[in-house]
Amino acid sequence: MNKIIFADALKGLAVLESNSVDTCITSPPYYGLRDYGNSGQIGLESTPEEYIQRLVAVFREVRRVLKPDGTLWVVIADSYAGSGKGWSNKNNRGVRPQTCANFDGIKPKDLIGIPWLLAFALRADGWYLRQDIIWQKPNPMPESVRDRCTKSHEYVFLLSKSPRYYFDGEAIAEPVAESTIKRLSQDVESQVGSSRVPGKDKPMKASHTRYGGAKYTATPDKFNRTKSGNMYEFKEKRNKRDVWTVSTKPYKGAHFATYPDTLILPCILAGSRAGGTVLDPFCGSGTTVQVAAEYGRHGIGIEINTEYEPLIKERVGDYQRIALEEVPDE
Ligand SMILES: C[S@@+](CC[C@H](N)C(=O)[O-])C[C@H]1O[C@@H](n2cnc3c(N)ncnc32)[C@H](O)[C@@H]1O
Repeated sequence: MNKIIFADALKGLAVLESNSVDTCITSPPYYGLRDYGNSGQIGLESTPEEYIQRLVAVFREVRRVLKPDGTLWVVIADSYAGSGKGWSNKNNRGVRPQTCANFDGIKPKDLIGIPWLLAFALRADGWYLRQDIIWQKPNPMPESVRDRCTKSHEYVFLLSKSPRYYFDGEAIAEPVAESTIKRLSQDVESQVGSSRVPGKDKPMKASHTRYGGAKYTATPDKFNRTKSGNMYEFKEKRNKRDVWTVSTKPYKGAHFATYPDTLILPCILAGSRAGGTVLDPFCGSGTTVQVAAEYGRHGIGIEINTEYEPLIKERVGDYQRIALEEVPDE
């Protein structure tokens, strides 16, 4: 059964049991980008430092509820420091904290470096920072900028609670490249090899991609060969790469920051066993819980805005509803 907790992330996490969740996949509110219209919301702090501190506190609670072999996947984009001029809340876009431009030498127009500030702060707080995956968007938001390139990527940070953790690389392995198939379709055994490889004293021949260690390493007898000895069928897979090309999808519901289901599916498959538990403390319209449920996991979502409940309902169907007290105004 899926569970949706309507509360501030910190308070919602407090009701969850320690060591109970397999993986957490989430996208926190980005810094200075949107006003979600709730006084307890994260994202509109006046300095990046304050914003990062609030997120670190939330993720510390996430670490408590994760199983010892659990993982955290954080989808996050960078922000530019604004002058504060032209501050506008129209269409929930263009909110630029003015004071940020005087923090830590950051000037208006500077890229703040939010993803790495967060990654380093989480590492300092005890997380193992395992990977910076690049989400490359073939269809980025058009930008009217004339003095830099259009931004077309975000980060997906993979962090773990312990040095050794559950990661099913096989579940997300990808087909080998066409060029590898061609290269290995040669009769490698009878090749002499090239002696012009710098630093090598033996001739070098085409070799096979190893996937995940000796267990998956192909041996010549695993391939089908034609009479001439060429391989004609090649079914091996390779380790998933750390640049993920995923198009953003327009979402018809009234939420401005949904991530594509195809972006987080690999995180669910690699980070949890079937029947496991997947958590999203900033669940928005419920994408994580929906995909987790579709793939036989239990989903737990936490969201501060009850106004997203109809969207969650539409996407997730039945769930156990827990509503904690409204967060009081500061
Ligand atoms: C980037 S969106 C997440 C969108 C989600 N990944 C999806 O696909 O729908 C961040 C969400 O965090 C929520 N939020 C902001 N501050 C929060 C807080 N303190 N506790 C819990 N949720 C919060 C916002 O209302 C928003 O829905």
